[in-house]
Amino acid sequence: MAKIDTKKMTFKVFRFNSETDFLPYYKNYVLDVRPEDMVLDVLDRIKWEKDGTFSYRRSCRHGICGSCAVKVNGKATLACKDRVSDLVEIFGEDLVIEPQDKGRTIKDMVIDKGTFWDKYNMVQPYLVADIDEAPKAENLVSIAEVEKIDEADYCIQCGNCYYSCPSVNVNEGYLGPAALAIAYRFNADVRDNASEERLDIVNNLGTGIWDCVKCFECAEACPKELDPIGKITKLHLQTFDDDMAENNVATRHAYGFKPSIEKHGLLDEGELVKYSEGIPGVLKHVPVAYKMWKKGKIVMPWKMPKSKNLDEITKLVKIASTTKFED
Ligand code: SF4
Ligand code: SF4
Ligand code: FES
Repeated sequence: MAKIDTKKMTFKVFRFNSETDFLPYYKNYVLDVRPEDMVLDVLDRIKWEKDGTFSYRRSCRHGICGSCAVKVNGKATLACKDRVSDLVEIFGEDLVIEPQDKGRTIKDMVIDKGTFWDKYNMVQPYLVADIDEAPKAENLVSIAEVEKIDEADYCIQCGNCYYSCPSVNVNEGYLGPAALAIAYRFNADVRDNASEERLDIVNNLGTGIWDCVKCFECAEACPKELDPIGKITKLHLQTFDDDMAENNVATRHAYGFKPSIEKHGLLDEGELVKYSEGIPGVLKHVPVAYKMWKKGKIVMPWKMPKSKNLDEITKLVKIASTTKFED
């Protein structure tokens, strides 16, 4: 019989039982790892061979149910989809396995996802339509209309994007990337009748699309590669297209790129701040602006260069601009 090629590895694993432990701790488990082993194989074998009290969620083992999400060395991971050997390539052999959010741990890898689900449910993550219960023909949707939904339909609600999002970390009220991506998915569905209600919900300052800082962590974390930040950007555009964008600091910041590019063919950071936050905003940012200027990252307003292709860029901006926002 062919010998199975295994490698001895030590995994440092987060342990905590919220009912009995005062503080969490880490425990090391030594396992013989096969080249094809997934992180889920490691979790299974810790439970089956080392400690039956170890807890984690899993169900489908095929990247469908979204329940096995954990973090490995801080990286959002879907345990049944991510291979140990690939993680070793990134981090080396010292792997630390932790729950998605240590502050919400119920037991070991099992966290309380209540807030995640509450926010998800807030955006009506389902089709709202008047259904004819006895239709005479199929309700056909064209390929072009289906394509607008994009891959937003592939979300498995694993929460990897949500628990990697820095905005969620500092702002409990922020709906987060998963809820916003699914809001886009149903708003883009031609059969749906609730897109205005959803835009009303996601358009609020402090909780909605304008509180995304565009860091792309969610895109990095998503095991389905559905690009939540891309969907958030499409919701931004929907608020402009549907005349629902209010004139506030966030929408002015989104829109403010246009006048700067029209004028210089380049982005003038100072002008963008002035456009979105006014003179008080400019004064507030003077210390940071000074540091940026010292490092050559920005220039003084009177030294702002112009692109040599300015005429062409101005024409392109005019053709491409579809927003109805009043500046
Ligand atoms: S891009 Fe936006 S939604 Fe995505 S992780 Fe960053 S702040 Fe959160
Ligand atoms: S958008 Fe991606 S990362 Fe976020 S919950 Fe859905 S599948 Fe998971
Ligand atoms: S067990 Fe279902 S996604 Fe991993």
